[in-house]
Amino acid sequence: MRIGILGGTGRMGRGLARSYVHAGHEVILGSRSPNRAQNAAKEIGSGVRGASLQKAAQEGEIVVLAVGFSDAAATVLALENELVGKILIDITNPFGAVPPGTTSGIEKNGQSAPAARWVAAYKTNFWKTIDQPAMVGQDTRDVLVCSDDDEAKRRVMQLIDETGLRAVDCGELINARTLDLMVPLMLELDHRYGSDALSSWKFIMPETG
Ligand SMILES: NC(=O)c1ccc[n+]([C@@H]2O[C@H](COP(=O)([O-])OP(=O)(O)OC[C@H]3O[C@@H](n4cnc5c(N)ncnc54)[C@H](OP(=O)(O)O)[C@@H]3O)[C@@H](O)[C@H]2O)c1
Repeated sequence: MRIGILGGTGRMGRGLARSYVHAGHEVILGSRSPNRAQNAAKEIGSGVRGASLQKAAQEGEIVVLAVGFSDAAATVLALENELVGKILIDITNPFGAVPPGTTSGIEKNGQSAPAARWVAAYKTNFWKTIDQPAMVGQDTRDVLVCSDDDEAKRRVMQLIDETGLRAVDCGELINARTLDLMVPLMLELDHRYGSDALSSWKFIMPETG
Protein backbone atom coordinates (compact mmCIF):
# COMPACT_ATOMS: atom_id res chain seq x y z
CA MET A 1 0.00 0.00 0.00
CA ARG A 2 1.09 3.61 -0.58
CA ILE A 3 0.97 5.78 2.56
CA GLY A 4 1.31 9.56 2.52
CA ILE A 5 2.49 11.31 5.67
CA LEU A 6 1.69 15.01 6.19
CA GLY A 7 4.46 16.30 8.44
CA GLY A 8 6.55 13.37 7.24
CA THR A 9 9.86 15.04 8.18
CA GLY A 10 8.90 15.17 11.87
CA ARG A 11 9.79 12.75 14.63
CA MET A 12 6.54 10.81 14.38
CA GLY A 13 6.45 11.09 10.60
CA ARG A 14 9.88 9.53 10.17
CA GLY A 15 9.23 6.86 12.80
CA LEU A 16 5.96 5.85 11.15
CA ALA A 17 7.64 5.87 7.73
CA ARG A 18 10.29 3.43 8.97
CA SER A 19 7.66 1.16 10.47
CA TYR A 20 5.52 1.14 7.31
CA VAL A 21 8.48 0.50 5.00
CA HIS A 22 9.64 -2.29 7.27
CA ALA A 23 6.18 -3.84 6.87
CA GLY A 24 6.55 -3.71 3.07
CA HIS A 25 4.62 -0.53 2.26
CA GLU A 26 5.59 2.45 0.13
CA VAL A 27 5.76 5.85 1.87
CA ILE A 28 5.61 9.44 0.67
CA LEU A 29 6.92 11.96 3.21
CA GLY A 30 4.91 15.15 2.69
CA SER A 31 6.50 18.44 3.71
CA ARG A 32 6.15 22.16 3.14
CA SER A 33 9.64 21.74 1.67
CA PRO A 34 9.84 18.82 -0.80
CA ASN A 35 13.63 19.19 -0.65
CA ARG A 36 13.65 18.62 3.12
CA ALA A 37 11.35 15.65 2.62
CA GLN A 38 13.63 14.15 -0.04
CA ASN A 39 16.61 14.42 2.32
CA ALA A 40 14.64 12.79 5.14
CA ALA A 41 13.52 10.04 2.76
CA LYS A 42 17.12 9.36 1.68
CA GLU A 43 18.11 8.86 5.31
CA ILE A 44 15.38 6.27 5.79
CA GLY A 45 16.20 4.40 2.60
CA SER A 46 14.39 2.54 -0.14
CA GLY A 47 10.62 2.53 -0.26
CA VAL A 48 10.38 6.13 0.92
CA ARG A 49 10.34 9.32 -1.14
CA GLY A 50 9.86 12.97 -0.29
CA ALA A 51 7.29 15.29 -1.83
CA SER A 52 5.01 18.24 -1.24
CA LEU A 53 2.09 17.95 1.18
CA GLN A 54 -0.24 18.00 -1.81
CA LYS A 55 1.48 15.06 -3.54
CA ALA A 56 1.55 13.04 -0.32
CA ALA A 57 -2.19 13.61 0.15
CA GLN A 58 -2.95 12.93 -3.52
CA GLU A 59 -0.89 9.78 -3.92
CA GLY A 60 -1.31 8.20 -0.48
CA GLU A 61 -4.00 5.54 -0.38
CA ILE A 62 -3.95 6.07 3.36
CA VAL A 63 -2.80 9.47 4.66
CA VAL A 64 -1.37 10.25 8.11
CA LEU A 65 -1.85 13.68 9.67
CA ALA A 66 1.41 14.14 11.61
CA VAL A 67 1.82 17.91 11.92
CA GLY A 68 1.37 19.73 15.24
CA PHE A 69 -2.24 20.14 16.34
CA SER A 70 -2.09 23.93 15.93
CA ASP A 71 -1.21 23.46 12.22
CA ALA A 72 -3.52 20.51 11.56
CA ALA A 73 -6.79 22.24 10.65
CA ALA A 74 -5.13 24.64 8.19
CA THR A 75 -3.11 21.77 6.68
CA VAL A 76 -6.14 19.59 5.96
CA LEU A 77 -8.26 22.55 4.84
CA ALA A 78 -5.68 23.35 2.16
CA LEU A 79 -5.79 19.68 1.05
CA GLU A 80 -9.54 19.20 1.39
CA ASN A 81 -10.02 18.16 -2.25
CA GLU A 82 -7.11 15.68 -2.22
CA LEU A 83 -8.48 14.12 0.98
CA VAL A 84 -12.03 13.43 -0.21
CA GLY A 85 -12.76 9.74 0.49
CA LYS A 86 -9.23 9.10 1.83
CA ILE A 87 -8.59 7.24 5.06
CA LEU A 88 -6.92 9.90 7.22
CA ILE A 89 -5.11 8.80 10.38
CA ASP A 90 -5.07 11.69 12.85
CA ILE A 91 -2.22 11.33 15.35
CA THR A 92 -2.30 14.95 16.58
CA ASN A 93 -2.60 15.73 20.28
CA PRO A 94 -4.40 18.95 21.23
CA PHE A 95 -3.03 19.20 24.81
CA GLY A 96 -5.97 21.24 26.08
CA ALA A 97 -6.40 23.33 22.92
CA VAL A 98 -10.00 22.07 22.70
CA PRO A 99 -12.41 21.92 25.66
CA PRO A 100 -11.31 18.69 27.40
CA GLY A 101 -13.88 15.89 27.55
CA THR A 102 -16.58 17.63 25.51
CA THR A 103 -14.85 17.40 22.14
CA SER A 104 -11.53 16.10 20.80
CA GLY A 105 -8.73 17.16 18.52
CA ILE A 106 -9.93 14.87 15.75
CA GLU A 107 -13.49 16.20 15.93
CA LYS A 108 -12.11 19.73 15.59
CA ASN A 109 -9.75 18.78 12.73
CA GLY A 110 -12.54 16.86 11.00
CA GLN A 111 -14.48 20.06 10.42
CA SER A 112 -11.77 21.21 8.00
CA ALA A 113 -11.97 18.11 5.74
CA PRO A 114 -15.33 16.47 6.48
CA ALA A 115 -15.19 14.19 3.42
CA ALA A 116 -12.07 12.35 4.64
CA ARG A 117 -12.47 9.05 6.53
CA TRP A 118 -11.07 10.05 9.92
CA VAL A 119 -9.40 7.52 12.19
CA ALA A 120 -7.66 8.45 15.48
CA ALA A 121 -4.54 6.41 16.24
CA TYR A 122 -1.00 6.59 17.71
CA LYS A 123 -2.00 9.43 20.06
CA THR A 124 -0.69 7.51 23.05
CA ASN A 125 2.53 6.25 21.42
CA PHE A 126 5.73 8.21 21.94
CA TRP A 127 7.83 8.77 18.82
CA LYS A 128 10.72 6.81 20.33
CA THR A 129 8.53 3.71 20.65
CA ILE A 130 7.19 3.46 17.09
CA ASP A 131 10.28 1.47 16.06
CA GLN A 132 10.08 -0.64 19.22
CA PRO A 133 6.88 -2.70 19.01
CA ALA A 134 7.89 -4.88 21.94
CA MET A 135 8.39 -3.57 25.47
CA VAL A 136 10.77 -4.94 28.05
CA GLY A 137 9.46 -8.45 28.84
CA GLN A 138 8.30 -8.77 25.21
CA ASP A 139 4.79 -7.34 25.68
CA THR A 140 3.68 -5.81 22.41
CA ARG A 141 2.91 -2.12 22.60
CA ASP A 142 -0.72 -1.10 22.03
CA VAL A 143 -1.98 1.53 19.60
CA LEU A 144 -5.42 2.78 20.61
CA VAL A 145 -7.67 3.33 17.59
CA CYS A 146 -11.15 4.81 17.18
CA SER A 147 -13.35 5.92 14.30
CA ASP A 148 -16.97 6.15 13.19
CA ASP A 149 -15.97 4.49 9.89
CA ASP A 150 -15.71 0.78 10.68
CA GLU A 151 -14.06 -0.22 7.40
CA ALA A 152 -11.46 2.55 7.63
CA LYS A 153 -10.74 1.58 11.25
CA ARG A 154 -10.32 -2.08 10.28
CA ARG A 155 -7.80 -1.17 7.55
CA VAL A 156 -5.83 1.10 9.87
CA MET A 157 -5.79 -1.58 12.58
CA GLN A 158 -4.49 -4.10 10.04
CA LEU A 159 -1.73 -1.68 9.01
CA ILE A 160 -0.75 -1.14 12.66
CA ASP A 161 -0.66 -4.89 13.33
CA GLU A 162 1.56 -5.38 10.27
CA THR A 163 4.16 -3.07 11.84
CA GLY A 164 4.43 -5.31 14.90
CA LEU A 165 2.44 -3.06 17.23
CA ARG A 166 -0.98 -4.22 18.50
CA ALA A 167 -4.02 -2.22 17.43
CA VAL A 168 -6.77 -1.99 20.06
CA ASP A 169 -10.28 -1.16 18.86
CA CYS A 170 -11.47 1.69 21.08
CA GLY A 171 -14.82 2.02 19.32
CA GLU A 172 -16.39 5.18 18.00
CA LEU A 173 -14.72 8.50 17.34
CA ILE A 174 -16.23 10.07 20.45
CA ASN A 175 -13.74 7.98 22.46
CA ALA A 176 -10.95 10.16 21.08
CA ARG A 177 -12.04 12.62 23.78
CA THR A 178 -10.70 10.14 26.31
CA LEU A 179 -7.59 9.32 24.28
CA ASP A 180 -6.72 13.03 24.18
CA LEU A 181 -6.82 13.12 27.97
CA MET A 182 -4.70 9.97 28.34
CA VAL A 183 -1.76 11.73 26.70
CA PRO A 184 -0.94 14.37 29.35
CA LEU A 185 -1.32 11.67 32.00
CA MET A 186 1.05 9.40 30.06
CA LEU A 187 3.56 12.27 29.92
CA GLU A 188 3.29 12.78 33.66
CA LEU A 189 3.72 9.07 34.39
CA ASP A 190 6.60 8.84 31.95
CA HIS A 191 8.31 11.74 33.72
CA ARG A 192 7.44 10.47 37.22
CA TYR A 193 8.88 7.01 36.53
CA GLY A 194 11.85 8.31 34.53
CA SER A 195 10.92 6.34 31.43
CA ASP A 196 12.42 8.87 28.96
CA ALA A 197 9.51 8.75 26.48
CA LEU A 198 9.66 4.97 26.23
CA SER A 199 6.43 4.14 28.09
CA SER A 200 3.06 3.16 26.56
CA TRP A 201 -0.48 2.41 27.68
CA LYS A 202 -1.19 -1.33 27.65
CA PHE A 203 -4.65 -2.93 27.69
CA ILE A 204 -4.72 -6.33 29.42
CA MET A 205 -7.66 -8.65 28.80
CA PRO A 206 -8.46 -12.26 29.62
CA GLU A 207 -7.59 -14.90 27.03
CA THR A 208 -10.49 -15.40 24.64
CA GLY A 209 -10.91 -18.88 23.15
N1 LIG B 1 6.30 13.29 19.57
C1 LIG B 1 5.54 12.27 20.00
O1 LIG B 1 6.03 11.38 20.75
C2 LIG B 1 4.10 12.17 19.59
C3 LIG B 1 3.35 11.05 19.96
C4 LIG B 1 2.05 10.92 19.52
C5 LIG B 1 1.47 11.93 18.74
N2 LIG B 1 2.21 13.02 18.44
C6 LIG B 1 1.59 14.08 17.60
O2 LIG B 1 2.17 13.94 16.31
C7 LIG B 1 2.29 15.21 15.69
C8 LIG B 1 3.74 15.40 15.24
O3 LIG B 1 4.58 15.37 16.37
P1 LIG B 1 6.17 15.35 16.19
O4 LIG B 1 6.73 15.19 17.54
O5 LIG B 1 6.53 14.40 15.11
O6 LIG B 1 6.41 16.87 15.67
P2 LIG B 1 7.65 17.45 14.87
O7 LIG B 1 8.83 16.60 15.03
O8 LIG B 1 7.73 18.89 15.28
O9 LIG B 1 7.18 17.37 13.33
C9 LIG B 1 6.08 18.04 12.86
C10 LIG B 1 6.24 18.30 11.37
O10 LIG B 1 5.18 19.20 10.98
C11 LIG B 1 5.64 20.03 9.92
N3 LIG B 1 5.14 21.39 10.16
C12 LIG B 1 5.62 22.30 11.06
N4 LIG B 1 4.89 23.43 10.99
C13 LIG B 1 3.96 23.23 10.02
C14 LIG B 1 2.93 24.05 9.47
N5 LIG B 1 2.72 25.30 9.89
N6 LIG B 1 2.14 23.51 8.50
C15 LIG B 1 2.34 22.25 8.05
N7 LIG B 1 3.33 21.43 8.54
C16 LIG B 1 4.12 21.93 9.51
C17 LIG B 1 7.14 20.00 9.91
O11 LIG B 1 7.53 19.51 8.63
P3 LIG B 1 8.08 20.50 7.47
O12 LIG B 1 8.75 21.66 8.16
O13 LIG B 1 9.05 19.63 6.73
O14 LIG B 1 6.89 20.89 6.67
C18 LIG B 1 7.53 19.00 10.99
O15 LIG B 1 8.50 18.07 10.55
C19 LIG B 1 1.82 16.25 16.71
O16 LIG B 1 0.49 16.61 16.44
C20 LIG B 1 1.90 15.51 18.05
O17 LIG B 1 0.94 15.95 18.98
C21 LIG B 1 3.51 13.18 18.81
